[in-house]
Amino acid sequence: MGEISLGLPSVLSGSGDDFPEELRQAAREIIDRYPPDRSRSALLPLLHLVQSHEGYVSADGIGFCASMLGLTRAEVAAVATFYTMYKRKPTGDFLVSVCTNTMCDALGGQRVFDELSEHLGVGHDETTPDGTITLEHAECLAACDYGPVMTVNYEFFDKVTPEQARDIVERLRKGERPQPTRGARLCTFKEISRQLAGFAEDRPEALADGVAGDATLAGVRLAQAHGVTAPEYDPTTPIVPEKESSS
Ligand code: FES
Repeated sequence: MGEISLGLPSVLSGSGDDFPEELRQAAREIIDRYPPDRSRSALLPLLHLVQSHEGYVSADGIGFCASMLGLTRAEVAAVATFYTMYKRKPTGDFLVSVCTNTMCDALGGQRVFDELSEHLGVGHDETTPDGTITLEHAECLAACDYGPVMTVNYEFFDKVTPEQARDIVERLRKGERPQPTRGARLCTFKEISRQLAGFAEDRPEALADGVAGDATLAGVRLAQAHGVTAPEYDPTTPIVPEKESSS
């Protein structure tokens, strides 16, 4: 009987022992942000750090996180395979995500995806042979007020048409960096992964230089016009309610 692949990296192999000392130092910096008895909370940024090195989370990346945090590979793999932002195979320089969820789909999101898929010759979670573009469906990119929405390395292109989407990926393949509608200028997938691991970058293109759009601010303006405010928040409120005394 042939071997059945579930598309998961083998959690029984890979150590990350060959990863560079610079990456190990960055990992220690991340872990030091957390209380010593909560170091496992550093796993999510550590996985982004691994992606900034490899472009995805390999079996070695899983072994690296496990050894840095004293976890089992199975524990790390369970997290890495749960969240879609952690990629299981090499990702292109530009991750193009097209929202095909309800709101965007009603406004043409699937047509955008289909156009890109046909133009690039790749399907969901596939990368062009030149290693430039990885295409994926996304389930709501939290910008429904600008649908149909597409992101490139998590920066937004709003109200995008199939023709505009095709033009954006063509420019990316030529080495250009089209300006997103909002947010920071584009960087590569590895560069954005390092930012997601919590390391600020001083490159000008790493910084957001836009303001929130009209549709995003509409609710705030309505609230201000009607005098609606959020309840006060006491920052001393314990995150975990203290147990009532049994006496
Ligand atoms: S449905 Fe597309 S961003 Fe929410």
